[in-house]
This record gives sequence, C-alpha cells and structure tokens, in this order.
Amino acid sequence: MKINRKFLIILLLTVTVSVMASATILKSEKEERYVNLKVLPKNISSKDLQKIMVDDFEDGLGVACNFCHAADKNTGQLDFASDAKPEKEIARSMMRMTIGINKKYFKIKHPMIGTEALTVTCNTCHNGVAFPDGH
Ligand code: HEC
Ligand code: HEC
Repeated sequence: MKINRKFLIILLLTVTVSVMASATILKSEKEERYVNLKVLPKNISSKDLQKIMVDDFEDGLGVACNFCHAADKNTGQLDFASDAKPEKEIARSMMRMTIGINKKYFKIKHPMIGTEALTVTCNTCHNGVAFPDGH
C-alpha cells in the first residue's frame, strides 16, 4: 500500500515535469519569432503585430515601413529587427507616451498599442501625417 502511494506520487511528478518541459519549449518557440520587441509583448502573434504595423503605424502616420525600418546593407531588404533608423526609437517612445496617456488620463487598466481598449491612439494626433505639428 505504502509503496504504491510512493510510486503514484513519483509517476505524478514525472508527468508534471514533462508537461511543464514541453510547455516551456512551445513557449520559447513562440517568443523567438520576433527578436527585438521592447514595448509590444514578446509573444505577440504575427497577425496582431502586422495589424499594428499596417493600421496604426503605416496608415496612422501616412508612411511606409521604411520610414522606421532600415534596409540591410548587403541584401537591400528591410531588416525589421534593426534599430539603425532613429525613427524606430522615436516610435517606441511615442508608443510609451500613448500607453501612458491612456493609463493616466483615461484610467485604462492594461493599455497596449493595437488593442480596442485604447482611447488615444497614434491616429488621434497623427491622423495620417508623420508630423502633426506641421513640420
Ligand atoms: C512609425 C514607425 C514604424 C513603421 C511605419 C513600421 N514599423 Fe515595424 N516596428 C516599429 C517599432 C517601433 C518596432 C519595435 C516595437 C517594440 O519594440 O515593441 C517594430 C517592429 C517590427 C517588427 C518586429 C521585428 C523584430 O523581430 O523585433 C516587424 C516584423 C515589423 N516591425 C514590421 C513592419 C512592417 C512590415 C511595416 C510596414 C507595413 C512596419 N513594420 C512599419 C516601428 C514601425
Ligand atoms: C499626443 C499626440 C501624439 C500621439 C498620441 C502620437 N504622436 Fe507621434 N508625434 C506627435 C507630434 C506632435 C509629432 C511631431 C514632433 C516633431 O515635429 O518633432 C510626432 C512625431 C512622430 C514621429 C516622427 C518623429 C521624427 O522626428 O521623425 C513618429 C515616428 C511618431 N510620431 C510615431 C508615433 C506612433 C507610432 C504613435 C502611436 C504609438 C504616435 N506617434 C502617437 C504627437 C503624437
């Protein structure tokens, strides 16, 4: 009787550990898709990320991807993970500001760029132009 209980506990622990291990593997595979996210959630789906880049950033500012993303010198293709263009870091700081405005002045609990919960978005100020102050 006693041995059986011990065996069961060991079996249960083994199963738990292997389930946790495979969950960790799945999680890290998902997180490794994007390598340089500092404001957006690291495990964001590609659908959600694309939507932000196109609807909020491209359309919101009236620019193309290369306004913020630098091209790789060798391939000429846009290197989305690179921080070589200063506009990308400015965009990050605008994202933090936008999150802050929603949190502080509109009392939104967990504001994140691209979610329906936001009251103030990039478009609230930009409305399709990169320099809303007329520069
Ligand atoms: C207004 C600036 C801006 C524009 C325009 C823009 N992006 Fe981005 N993009 C960013 C910023 C900022 C990040 C990093 C976000 C973070 O740090 O959380 C990013 C991150 C990304 C990433 C993730 C890269 C990685 O591995 O970390 C991809 C992919 C991407 N953008 C694709 C695009 C595409 C495709 C377009 C055009 C349709 C586009 N972006 C337009 C600012 C921009
Ligand atoms: C509260 C108003 C406001 C909000 C919200 C806002 N912006 Fe801006 N943004 C501005 C103003 C004003 C400028 C022009 C600043 C200047 O001329 O130096 C600007 C300029 C920029 C620039 C160009 C900077 C440069 O000097 O090249 C980028 C890129 C940008 N914003 C990205 C964003 C993104 C992405 C969002 C949403 C996450 C956003 N902004 C939300 C007001 C805002």
